[in-house]
Formats: sequence, C-alpha cells, structure tokens
Amino acid sequence: MRIGVFDSGYGGLTILKAIRGLLPQYDYIYLGDNARNPYGTRSFELVYEFTLQAVKALFERGCHLVILACNTASAKALRSIQQIDLPQIDSNRRVLGVIRPTVETISTISQNRHVGVLATPGTVKSHSYTLEFNKIAPDIIVTEHACPMWVPLVENNEFNSPGTDYFIKKEIDILFQKDPAIDTVVLACTHYPLLEEKIKKFLPEGVKTICQGGLVANSLADYLTRHPEIENRCSKQASAIFLTTEHPEKFDSLASLFMGHPVESTTVILPDNK
Ligand code: DGL
Repeated sequence: MRIGVFDSGYGGLTILKAIRGLLPQYDYIYLGDNARNPYGTRSFELVYEFTLQAVKALFERGCHLVILACNTASAKALRSIQQIDLPQIDSNRRVLGVIRPTVETISTISQNRHVGVLATPGTVKSHSYTLEFNKIAPDIIVTEHACPMWVPLVENNEFNSPGTDYFIKKEIDILFQKDPAIDTVVLACTHYPLLEEKIKKFLPEGVKTICQGGLVANSLADYLTRHPEIENRCSKQASAIFLTTEHPEKFDSLASLFMGHPVESTTVILPDNK
C-alpha cells in the first residue's frame, strides 16, 4: 500500500517534500486538485465533497493512509470523513490532517504566547486553529488572518514576482495591527512556504515563521511508530506517483520546480470536475 498525500493544488508538495526527506523508504501518491483550486474561497459543502472524492480516488489506487496536506480540507472535511465516511468505506483505512500536529508543535514554540495564523479564508472562517489551540494550549492568544490572494499567486507561478510583495505586506500589516505582540506566525496554508522569503522580509524583527512540512513529517513518523498495523502495510520501494486534475504539462513544470527533481504526472478525473 502507498501513502496518499492530497492537496487542492501545488501546496501539498511542500509537505510531501518534507515527508519524503524524513521517510524516503515508503511509496507515495500525490494528488493535486489543480483544476478546482483554490479551495480556500469555496463553501464548506464543496470542500467536503471535493476532498471526499479525492480520498476515494486515493483509496481506489491502493492507499490505506491518506494525509490531507491542505489546511482548508483539514479544517472543513477531515472530521466528517473520519466520523461519517470512513466507517462506511473501510474502518481499517486512515485519513489524517495537518492542523492538530501544527498546533501541538506551535504551543511549545511561542515564548510570549501570542500566535498569528495566516491561512485561506476557508480555514480562518472555520476557526479550526483557534478551537484546536483552545483545546491544547488555552493560554495562547490566537489571531487568525485570511490572505485570499496568496494561493492564486502561487498557483499562477507569480510567487517570485515584485507585484506579490504588495499582497504580502498588506496582509502582514493587518495581522500585526490586530496584535502587535505576536512572536510566532504560522504559515497555515501549505502553499505559503513558497512565499516564505517574501513573508520574512515584511515581518517585524525577531518574529518566527513556522512552515508545516517538517512538523507534519515528524508527526507522521511518530504515527507510524505508534501504529505498526498500518506501518506494516506500507510498501517500501521509495517511489512517488503524481496525479493532477489539470493538464500534466502545466503541473509537471511547477511541481518539478517545487520538488527539486523532475516530476511526471498523469491526469485523474474526479467525478464531476467543476
Ligand atoms: N494549500 C491549501 C491549504 O493549506 C489550500 C489552498 C486553497 O486551495 O485555497 O489551505
């Protein structure tokens, strides 16, 4: 069995790259729903429907464990898939998200307990980060802020262009107007690490940025150690298959850039590509 990694587009590649760096022995399937990206401005119902379609597509291709490498999907679809769909589909399969491991790590990092969360409008609207921090580290003051332009800039290969600076500075200024005491900023969208250099340029001095790749990889390694019944089922040929709902040529050129090695994808048709 392969480990499935799902994102609405290219962002989850930042997670896959970190996972493969730490756990290179396993076989992976990456699925990017680039044709229907961005998810961040879509309704709860649509994100849930699209994510469930993607999870089923990965199950059909032999994945027994799927990581939702997308905060928006983790915020809007994970719980329903775990509680409603998995028991009906196959209770031996697992779907994991990225929000819980992120919150667990951040709660040990922030010194002054003021944390900023930059994410898509969908993730912010769900308040999943605030709810999760309240459960795990209720002393942390969480300020969430949505950056609706950042994902389209990454998906359209504009993440390095000068015009992008305007949108980065704009959202960071608003975040720090809301809480000037923030000492740690979570890039709570898997597309944002691709903008990290620019983001750092506009942050007040001394403020830390946290990307999710490394911490999700650590959390997966820990999960596999604690669940040998899943780990034993994982095939170990150190390979990766890439699937996209878009044209493969477009996906391959950007994905190769993000992964740092040539990527050859194939198109997958999810039911009802809207
Ligand atoms: N990369 C995704 C996330 O982490 C989603 C971005 C989007 O499709 O809007 O939220």
